Parts: sequence; C-alpha cells; structure tokens
Amino acid sequence: KEESTLSITVVGASGDLANKKIFPALFALFYEDCLPENFTVFGFARTKLTDEELRNMISKTLTCRIDKRENCDDKMDQFLKRCFYQAGQYNSEESFLELDKKLKEKEAGKLSNRLFYLSIPPNIFVDVVRCASHRASSTNGWTRVIVEKPFGRDSESSGELTRCLKQYLTEDQIFRIDHYLGKELVENLSVLRFSNLVFEPLWSRNYIRNVQLIFSEDFGTEGRGGYFDNYGIIRDIMQNHLLQILALFAMETPVSLEAEDIRNEKVKVLRSMKPLKLEDVIVGQYKGHGKGGKSYPAYTDDPTVPKDSLTPTFAAAALFINNARWDGIPFLMKAGKALHVKRAEIRVQFRHVPGNLYKRNFGTDLDKATNELVLRVQPDEAIYLKINNKVPEIPDAYERLLLDAIEGERRLFIRSDELDAAWALFTPLLRELEEKKIFPELYPYGSRGPVGAHYLAAKHNVRWGDLSGEIYE
Ligand code: BG6
Repeated sequence: KEESTLSITVVGASGDLANKKIFPALFALFYEDCLPENFTVFGFARTKLTDEELRNMISKTLTCRIDKRENCDDKMDQFLKRCFYQAGQYNSEESFLELDKKLKEKEAGKLSNRLFYLSIPPNIFVDVVRCASHRASSTNGWTRVIVEKPFGRDSESSGELTRCLKQYLTEDQIFRIDHYLGKELVENLSVLRFSNLVFEPLWSRNYIRNVQLIFSEDFGTEGRGGYFDNYGIIRDIMQNHLLQILALFAMETPVSLEAEDIRNEKVKVLRSMKPLKLEDVIVGQYKGHGKGGKSYPAYTDDPTVPKDSLTPTFAAAALFINNARWDGIPFLMKAGKALHVKRAEIRVQFRHVPGNLYKRNFGTDLDKATNELVLRVQPDEAIYLKINNKVPEIPDAYERLLLDAIEGERRLFIRSDELDAAWALFTPLLRELEEKKIFPELYPYGSRGPVGAHYLAAKHNVRWGDLSGEIYE
C-alpha cells in the first residue's frame, strides 16, 4: 500500500551471505515489482562506509537473469538509490538509535514496517535483537526479524537462544530461515503429493521401500573452516535442510496451506522420529590426495581448522518414523562436502512388484521389478519416475510375428475363443445399424469428424483430447 513503508535492514551488511545472497535477492524482488512501492534497504555493520561505498559494494553482486536484461542498468540504479548505510556496534543501543533516526527520515511519518535480516554470527544474535527491539522497532507497523542458522549447537543451546530471543520478540516476529524450504523443488513437493492422485495413495510403507535424502557438494569447506569446524555436516545440513525436506515429504495432509497447519504436520513427523542410534550413523572427513596432476587439500589443511579436528564433513544416517504411515521404513540421509558431484535429491524407491510375472517367465532384469521416483533439487530441477518398459527388439510387427509363428510362439496370436468373444461384442450392434438403416452423420473431408462424437463424450462426462482441452485429431 502506498501509505505504508517497508525498511529492510541487513545487519552484517559487509558479510559474505549478505553480498552473495541477500542483496541480490532483494534486487531480484525489486526487479519483479514484488517489493512495496515505498521501501528502503539499510546496511548495518561495524565497518565505516558511506552510502556510496555501500552501493558500490552491492552493485558488484547484482545481476539480472538472462531473460531480464532489458532495463537492467536502470533498474539497478533505481534500486541502489534506495540503499543506505549505517555503521554501528552490534551491542550498542546508541547505534540502533541512530539507525532508527535514519529509518524515520525515510519513512517520513508513514506507517512503517521494519524487517531486520540478521546476517551475522549467532553469538551476537541476542545483542542485536535486544538493541534493535529497544531502539529501532517500528512504533506503528510490524517489526520482524529473519535469522539464519545455526540456531544453537544442540537442544540446550538452541533452547537458550530461543528463550533469549523471546525476551525481546514474540514467536510471530521471528522468521527462522532454512533456505532449502525456498527451493523450487522443495516447495513443489507438497504440490506433487497433494495434487496428483497417482502419488498420494502410494505414499506409505505399503508401497515405499525406502526414501533417500542426498546432499553432496564437489568442493570442501574452503574459506569457511572457521565456522564449519565448530558445527560439522550433521548440524550444517542434516539437522536442518535434509530434515526439513524429510518432514515435508512424510507429513500427513495438512488441514490447509496456512503456515500453522503445515508446521503442525511437520512437527508431528519430527516428534514421531525414533531416537537416532550411533549404529545407524556413519561419519567421515575428507583427506587430501592428488588426481590427474591436481592436488586436493584435506579438510585439516584448511588453516582455520585444527590439525586434529574430528569434525565430520560427511555423514550418513538411517532414520525411522514411528507412525502408522512409515513404521519400519528407512529414511536414509547422506550429506557430504568434497565429493565427486554437486547434487541434492530425494529418491523414493518403491517395493518390488509382488508375484512378478516377469521374474517367473523370463528371468530378465525385470526380476526385481520396482519403480523409483526421483526429485532432484539441484543442480537442475527435475522430477522423474523410473518405469519398467519392454526393451524393444525387432522393430517391425510383421517381422516379429512371422518369427513367432516360425518358432511356434502363440502369445501374440488370437485364439478362436477370443475371436468369438470379440465378434460377440460387435455383431449385435452391426446388425442393428444395418437393420435400422442408421444414416451416418456427414462431416467435411479434412475436418475433425462428426460433432456427434463430442456429444457422445459429453454424455459420459468426457472431453476428447488432453486435459487442457486441446483436441487431438
Ligand atoms: C548452507 C550450508 O546452509 O547450505 C553450506 O551452511 C552449504 O555448508 C549450503 O554449502 C548449500 O546451499 P546450496 O543452496 O548451495 O545447496
């Protein structure tokens, strides 16, 4: 709405995340006209910068998508003009008071909504939230805070963090980001499940044998060792990204698509998980080696990582959900850095076909006939279902049938009782048509045929052609 303003303050504006992801994302939203009419972006960090210097820094990270190159420079200029900077200490209420003054100038007395994005290390979350809520909250609109993981290192520290944040914020004001939930395919997971009749009936232990959640990166912790060594792959990827995907995958149908209804269902899955046993987990760490004239560093070669670090850079785990839908079905997670590919995917392996005819008759690779549904989150999104097909042999029908006849193979030939039955179906109709001298409906040469065919289909609630209504010849 025109009367209201939105200020987005990126706290930790000079950091990696802010520059790689947040400013570019804000610009993309601006480009798509998704931001409100009156918005400003504030960078806040300790480094002293002028507005101009901030704009310079941001401008290097902004890009337009290939199909959006038109007016790209203009749009960037317009966006950068809305960006401002405020230097300050993260634990200083005065700094946030100064920020508040600047925000107020831009808001010019309008209804003001304020969003803070904490792109900072977790040990200063609480300080920033305290200062911001005391000194820079909106007085007439909403104030929201986005926080990025890590949300603690374990249950206690996470509980403690939440407790501290809640001294200054209500649950409604806290937006904990898991950026995997924003990925197209992860969002699509619910659409896939709940708007395709063919999948939902199969979505249980009755048909699914196992589910695999796989994350791999083809690079190590280069440059992030300092952060990573304190967390490890289980905290970095499994506890959040993969577990979130698992919950969405496995949850019951929510009452509606409202946030609370979905979060209620996810939390039920998480609370039904069986305790993870050490024997169901393996951990690994990458080591250096040389390949093809190139040498690859070990995790502990990173100068920010202690030489004797035991931090896992790889982990695999088998998880189980103790509920009626998933009892006994392994959900296997695998996450690792410095592996051979960069990929994130969900693999759903279905049970073997019971009483498989092909096993009995032919002993071919259809022995273990099964299906697999793959949802690839990245690098390129894809959903594909592996279906068992016949391997084509001889291309021409006559060739095959002649050969069958020569070999005495009768499967594709019609037996006389079949023929009788086929005639029995059509003979009375043919007789009636002829006896009543039913006149064929005329239709123009080259047309789609008689309209009567459409009336017939309509009578049975059918439309010829595909669902979009297109009519096939
Ligand atoms: C982050 C992890 O949450 O996700 C990183 O901290 C990881 O270690 C990253 O590299 C992967 O995200 P994406 O979007 O590149 O798959």
